[in-house]
Amino acid sequence: MKLKEKLIVYYLSAAFVILFFVGLFTLNSIKNLGINTIEQQLTGQSSLAELYITQLHAIQNENSDDLSAETSKFVIGKLGLVFGNIRIYDKDFKLLASSKANTSLGISDTQNREILEAASNGSYAYIVRNSTAYFASPITFKDSIIGILEIIYPMSFLQGLINGVSNILLIGTFIFAILLALISIFIASRLTKPINRLAKAADNYANRIFSPVEIKGSDEIAQLSRSFNEMGIQLQEYILRQKQFVSNVSHELRTPLTAIKGYSELLYEEVGDRPDLKKAVFHLKNESDRLYKLVNEVLTLSRIETGREEFNMNRLNFSDLVNDTVDKMLIRAQNNGVKITSDIESDVYVKGDKEKLVQVVVNLIDNAVKYSPSKSVVRLNLFKESNEVILMISDQGIGIPEKEMSKVFDRFYRAENAQRIPGTGLGLSIAKHIVEAHNGSIRLTAGIEGGTTAILSLPIDS
Ligand SMILES: Nc1ncnc2c1ncn2[C@@H]1O[C@H](COP(=O)(O)OP(=O)(O)O)[C@@H](O)[C@H]1O
Ligand SMILES: [Mg+2]
Repeated sequence: MKLKEKLIVYYLSAAFVILFFVGLFTLNSIKNLGINTIEQQLTGQSSLAELYITQLHAIQNENSDDLSAETSKFVIGKLGLVFGNIRIYDKDFKLLASSKANTSLGISDTQNREILEAASNGSYAYIVRNSTAYFASPITFKDSIIGILEIIYPMSFLQGLINGVSNILLIGTFIFAILLALISIFIASRLTKPINRLAKAADNYANRIFSPVEIKGSDEIAQLSRSFNEMGIQLQEYILRQKQFVSNVSHELRTPLTAIKGYSELLYEEVGDRPDLKKAVFHLKNESDRLYKLVNEVLTLSRIETGREEFNMNRLNFSDLVNDTVDKMLIRAQNNGVKITSDIESDVYVKGDKEKLVQVVVNLIDNAVKYSPSKSVVRLNLFKESNEVILMISDQGIGIPEKEMSKVFDRFYRAENAQRIPGTGLGLSIAKHIVEAHNGSIRLTAGIEGGTTAILSLPIDS
């Protein structure tokens, strides 16, 4: 998951957890508040009713300890009009009177026995069942309990209120979620944009493109970008100094090596018939030759890389250049037992440095020949394609392992399967630099029947 998506998911989850608990708390508070209010109301009502009943009892039943059914019915008849649904029990929980007609009188109500018992012990009690509150309180006359009053109170309005609030909360949550999603997308993009730019720049650095990132501000990311840019500058300086060092060293080595190479060649001619000496001088000549080539290649590469190499650009017949180069390479190919066939479209012109383009073509043919078994064929094809000339060099050789394909243009890089065959690993690197200085391109692909195909393309000079 991307950083931006992570941020959005975190924001939303946090918000939903908070919303859930706030909602739960709100609903619970409303419920408690409702129940408390009802309780207060019912205690008030029951005290009033008790007062009325005891006074009536005093008048009707004089000093009797038993509340009579007549008195109860009379009271209910009056109070029922005011309080709605009420019932009166005697002290043995027998129903004496009820404001609701369908309740059978004289039968104890077992449903709410616990609150009736609590009331017979002198305190009020209530219970909520099926959205209805049952509230029981004692009727006390001359310090003794003569009956129990029960008020039945529908709580459906409270349920309605809670449902209403739940709906509002639900809709609110929905709207809030949409707003929050938009806000979190906005914040996440703002936060991740500079990070993405930094990541892109780091990616470029890995590909040796040292373009600085500009992130304004004083936060950590801006700070990081400044350090990053500073690092880029130092890295570039370091690379440049390293290249200059290599260039200086190889330049210094060239002069003495030229002498060594020249003298060893002379020695080889003059050594006569002493076989031991002849063998030693032969090695001396070969090794100094190899070293001389290596130093020359390093020097060329570093001169091109540091922009010190001059290009003599002229209009050239590229077809002739390739044909001549092939002729020069025929002996080398023959020694390897490799046949070169070519199909070259004639008189295709390019603008370029002749010597350097020859170097490129020599290198590509040399690789094709060098990495091929004897009795195989190297094919050259030169043709025009829109405003480019394409030179394809295909061999039937050892090929380049897929995962090393992108690395072989790096200097000194040699593929795993090429280690047995001598080389410096600099040829392609030099070729690429030269071709790019000509606004062309060079790439390698795996041949269809194994082997490798090098594809060189240059702009045509019409
Ligand atoms: N035609 C080819 N067939 C197989 N491998 C090749 C071919 N051309 C280049 N390579 C691989 O690319 C590497 C780099 O080539 P190059 O720069 O010319 O260096 P060198 O030939 O001196 O090793 C070689 O070492 C080899 O692994
Ligand atoms: Mg090579």
